[in-house]
Amino acid sequence: MKWNEKYSKTKWKCEITHYDQKLAVAKKIASLVKDGDVIGFGSGSTSLLAVREIARRIEENHLSITALPTSNEIRMECVSLGIPVANLNDVRPDWGFDGADEVDCHKWLIKGRGGAMFHEKLIMSNSPKTYIIVDQSKFVNHLCEKFPIPVECVPSAYTSVMHQLYKLGADTVELRLSGKSKDGPVITENGNYILDTTFHHVSNDLEQKIKQIIGVLESGLFIGYNIEIMSI
Ligand code: 5RP
Repeated sequence: MKWNEKYSKTKWKCEITHYDQKLAVAKKIASLVKDGDVIGFGSGSTSLLAVREIARRIEENHLSITALPTSNEIRMECVSLGIPVANLNDVRPDWGFDGADEVDCHKWLIKGRGGAMFHEKLIMSNSPKTYIIVDQSKFVNHLCEKFPIPVECVPSAYTSVMHQLYKLGADTVELRLSGKSKDGPVITENGNYILDTTFHHVSNDLEQKIKQIIGVLESGLFIGYNIEIMSI
């Protein structure tokens, strides 16, 4: 028996910036969906619009697909729209899509404004190809121009991880706080903290160096993945 679908209905928390560009690229992604596809579904507002456009295509073209969502929010949106979901232990993605906060000329990315970078990286690294769906505001001359690199770490290790990030050359390291919905630090879907970290220079081994710090689960720095940038 199914739950009432309104229980999982979600709303984006604020107005979606660059809405027209995001919607246009969401429609482009939806046009790629084929019957039988297993698709990695990214997170963020552009991905959310893509989920809604894919649901529309599924209905119009009677398609059957499986989604591998990268966050609770996207999973809930899929459920409310009737898109079947699975997890990576059950199936592998044929391809995927996801948003980004920054894209540089090497196609290196910063992701994780929404705190979902661990599952985003997990799904992307298991996908033969991922389309990065972005509006023009996401293209930068160098990474950390507008957004920090989020580093997800185990709560009991956050001060030592901060120390190690400064030793790697970080300019700033800030514990991400919840804002108005809760006092104290943001807790990720894996029960961890996020350290928002800026570097004036991002070298091609920085992702690996951050990952090697004891207590780090993952970072939002994505270097050298199988991606194609899709914008309008
Ligand atoms: C969430 C992400 C998002 O993909 C990224 O923040 C882009 O979001 P938006 O499409 O809302 O601009 O990495 O963790």
